[in-house]
Amino acid sequence: MTSKQPSEKLFSSALKPYVTSALGAAYLGDAKELINNVTDNSVDLILTSPPYALFFKKEYGNVDQDKYVDWLLGFASDFRRVLKPTGSFVLNIGGSWTPRQPTRALCHFEIALRLVKECGFHLAQEFFWHNPAKLPAPAEWVTVRRIRVKDAVEMVWWLSKEPFPKADNRKVLQPYSPDMLRLLQRGYKPKQRPSGHTITAKFGDRGGSIPGNMLSLGNNDANGHYLTRCGEMGVKPHPARFPAQLPAFFVEFLTDPNDVVLDPFAGSCTTGEVAENLGRRWLAFEVSKTYLDGAKFRFEAPWDIDRRNQILSAFGQTFSSGDVATEQTTLQFPSKRIAGKVRK
Ligand SMILES: C[S@@+](CC[C@H](N)C(=O)[O-])C[C@H]1O[C@@H](n2cnc3c(N)ncnc32)[C@H](O)[C@@H]1O
Repeated sequence: MTSKQPSEKLFSSALKPYVTSALGAAYLGDAKELINNVTDNSVDLILTSPPYALFFKKEYGNVDQDKYVDWLLGFASDFRRVLKPTGSFVLNIGGSWTPRQPTRALCHFEIALRLVKECGFHLAQEFFWHNPAKLPAPAEWVTVRRIRVKDAVEMVWWLSKEPFPKADNRKVLQPYSPDMLRLLQRGYKPKQRPSGHTITAKFGDRGGSIPGNMLSLGNNDANGHYLTRCGEMGVKPHPARFPAQLPAFFVEFLTDPNDVVLDPFAGSCTTGEVAENLGRRWLAFEVSKTYLDGAKFRFEAPWDIDRRNQILSAFGQTFSSGDVATEQTTLQFPSKRIAGKVRK
């Protein structure tokens, strides 16, 4: 770890970061206060998962459901202020249930509606994060009375400051399906399909398939460096971490190397680790010292191939040993080579 801060201009405070790395810093404290130190129009991507509006409070301090929407919207003007005009705000919010009855609460929809209607954000697109490993909950309705099914999808609202945020889906192309590969090999005669879509003569290999807005990602870091080190050092791991592929998708899709990524509710700093790995500068805020104690493990050596592959496997792409031979290497994605900083 170095003692470098990401940029003098990005964060104007004498406050010492709690965690530092080559490209970023995490600060311990309340995001509401810390964000005041972030320079206007300096951030390319705010990517975060705030504490959810759960009926049963989680250990990391959810506010009550009825106050939740107002609490979260209290951050909106600062988020807009710090974003560049081309910037994006990607907000993951799990759904919640009405207390004591098997009906859904509407907070996660209300938040998106009010961010657009009252706070000036644009809804660039909604994403669905499908987590196949989610436990059946709430138990009363799902496993005891059996009157609801598993809630396996969370919303990810992609909001933007202006209608045309920076974005390039060619950076997140996925491998073609075997059917598509066969079709590309055999060739395709231009014609109108039964759906009415016309396949023109331009049909051909574009380097990979364009992903949809459903991201199917489980929490698969059970043997990862972070958990191993938390176990070794007796630090309590964060109970609600992102799978690294979730931030990786949006960081790749919406930013370029050296851009700035902010996670104001950083938890164990998954977003920071992903940003670091992909050569982006990053800032993180987190109110719990325990979670930032664990986050330090993400930025210590060895920064090895397995850890990087955990992040990149969402793109059907992994590193080989040659890729980590140098300090500054290039990350291979299906369509394109993207410069990224790799630490030995
Ligand atoms: C859902 S967790 C984020 C987990 C994170 N995405 C990860 O992968 O580890 C939300 C985090 O927000 C933190 N938090 C809650 N209120 C906060 C505040 N006012 N300022 C900063 N962090 C806060 C909680 O301590 C919790 O760790």
